[in-house]
Amino acid sequence: MRILRKRGYIVKPDLDALRRMIGEKLPGRAAHILGCEKTAAKLACCWGEDEEKARFAALLHDITKQYSHIEQLKFVQKYDILVDSDFDRFPALAHAVTGAAVARAEYGADEDVVHAIRYHTTGRPGMTKLEKILYLADYIEPSRDFKGLEETRELAYRDLDAAVLRATAECVIYNLKKSRPIHPITIAAYNDMVESAARSDN
Ligand SMILES: [Fe+2]
Ligand SMILES: [Fe+2]
Repeated sequence: MRILRKRGYIVKPDLDALRRMIGEKLPGRAAHILGCEKTAAKLACCWGEDEEKARFAALLHDITKQYSHIEQLKFVQKYDILVDSDFDRFPALAHAVTGAAVARAEYGADEDVVHAIRYHTTGRPGMTKLEKILYLADYIEPSRDFKGLEETRELAYRDLDAAVLRATAECVIYNLKKSRPIHPITIAAYNDMVESAARSDN
């Protein structure tokens, strides 16, 4: 985690202040975000990742989700974010892109945390451990409830890669059944995971 220095003092992320801000400004999302934080912390302990980084990423992961697409575009301008046509094709996923920029610029998040937030909705090929942890925590946190979730929750503490693959496959199937487009980077992530699983089996 990047350590901020102010007037010679080391300033670490104030997670309590973030939790208070979330409770006050995002009351409708607080249960999900705090559940995600707890789950990310547990996964970090289980898989040897930095627990504070996992908590920080989880607390910030939906920091811009409440904004409209017009407002998302204002973040793009404000923070000079490089986006392609997928930003408009998948408006529900735009908050991951803008949230990552806000986490870096306004909360001093380091690049590990920024990337975890950036890819928490889509995944990507070659995800880092922290990215996998946030991706899964967002998917399995306690306020989520849908068929098959218990198996993914159990798998998350037994085989991290298999759990991320299962969650990704479930997202793809869910969107296929609803005739919704699937983000190309999610397909690329799925292919990458299937191919590396096959390589490690051989
Ligand atoms: Fe999100
Ligand atoms: Fe989320």
